[in-house]
Amino acid sequence: MTKHDQDETQFDFRATTLPGAEEALCEELRELNFSGVRLNRGGIPFRGTMQDGWRACLESRIAQRILLLLDRFPADSAESLYAGAKGVAWERVISPRHTLSVAAVCRGSTLQHSNFAALKVKDAICDRLRDISGARPTVSRDDPDVRVQLYLANNKASLSLDLSGEPLHRRGYRTEAGEAPLRETLAAVMLRVCGWDRDTLLVDPMCGSGTIAIEAALWAANHAPGLDRERFGFERWANFDDAQAERLRALRGSLRRAVRPTRPRIVAADRDEQVLEIARANARRARVKLAFRHQSFLDFQVGGAEPGALVMNPPYGVRLEKEPDLVHGIAAAISRLHGWRVCLLAGSPDYERAIPIRPLRRVMLSNGPIECALLVYQVP
Ligand SMILES: C[S@@+](CC[C@H](N)C(=O)[O-])C[C@H]1O[C@@H](n2cnc3c(N)ncnc32)[C@H](O)[C@@H]1O
Repeated sequence: MTKHDQDETQFDFRATTLPGAEEALCEELRELNFSGVRLNRGGIPFRGTMQDGWRACLESRIAQRILLLLDRFPADSAESLYAGAKGVAWERVISPRHTLSVAAVCRGSTLQHSNFAALKVKDAICDRLRDISGARPTVSRDDPDVRVQLYLANNKASLSLDLSGEPLHRRGYRTEAGEAPLRETLAAVMLRVCGWDRDTLLVDPMCGSGTIAIEAALWAANHAPGLDRERFGFERWANFDDAQAERLRALRGSLRRAVRPTRPRIVAADRDEQVLEIARANARRARVKLAFRHQSFLDFQVGGAEPGALVMNPPYGVRLEKEPDLVHGIAAAISRLHGWRVCLLAGSPDYERAIPIRPLRRVMLSNGPIECALLVYQVP
């Protein structure tokens, strides 16, 4: 990866997301004009220049991480993993002044323990740098300059660098949250799967810290989600020099110019006034305009409004146990929304049982440790 290479050479990337969101990510990456996008369960592959990798970090609303594939080789033992990892030209991105971390996933391979495999890769990187420059980089778990990923499946190793740094759902605007806040990337998946046209009325009647409504407003304005991130992982690599920083500034500038000041009506409501304050503060930080309402969804009235999209993430778990009638109240309120598109992230099967309409779409997603059903309805 010389400076010249970085302008022209095509690299293999992989965008990762939460399990169940792969189709939505694939659709998004194709819409964003990335090449070689293909549906794949372990992360969506695409090809492009290094700047395409940066662009994915800046523009994808659904990807959790963007990985740059460095090498693939057979590794059926600790020795072959070490030798393969030592053969990679790490000195192009890591100097002894840098800190690094190695994360590993092992599946169906002789080496089963991911911590051991990660340690072998870390040793190979440090030994190679010591052989070349006489010094080793140090390991940092919390805030490494360079994040390396090993994926070892069926005795084949793939070594990648993580361009993102902090996971991409950390957009920067949500510094405060209510209970059970939704990841920003999951909110973006909901909006896409729902089929919202980015123009008609959108309501989140249980907005909590406002994630769904804020993500909707950013999407409608074509505001790239990474524009307000202070920095990405690749900006800390050894080969990221002034010329590259200039190119990144130009890319950010062109994305900023593509922001359009459209303003669909987006309403964020919650019955909890304190959490609404948090949502207002988050919206201010994201610089989006939302209409806030302090209201229980059980009293939700459409009034004379045109049908729109209702996108919601109702309570689950312990919260729900305390309020057994809430599910039926929500199901009844949804049934009154004639002509509306409703998208509900259900962390409990009770919701689907209680809603007397067949969902148009049903996507199973992992929201952290909780298996959720993303249900899309067209209310007759
Ligand atoms: C799972 S949280 C939503 C989290 C939100 N998506 C976020 O990203 O922060 C559920 C929210 O529903 C609200 N809620 C519960 N019952 C409600 C009701 N009847 N009407 C309106 N909001 C309600 C709670 O106050 C809570 O903020």
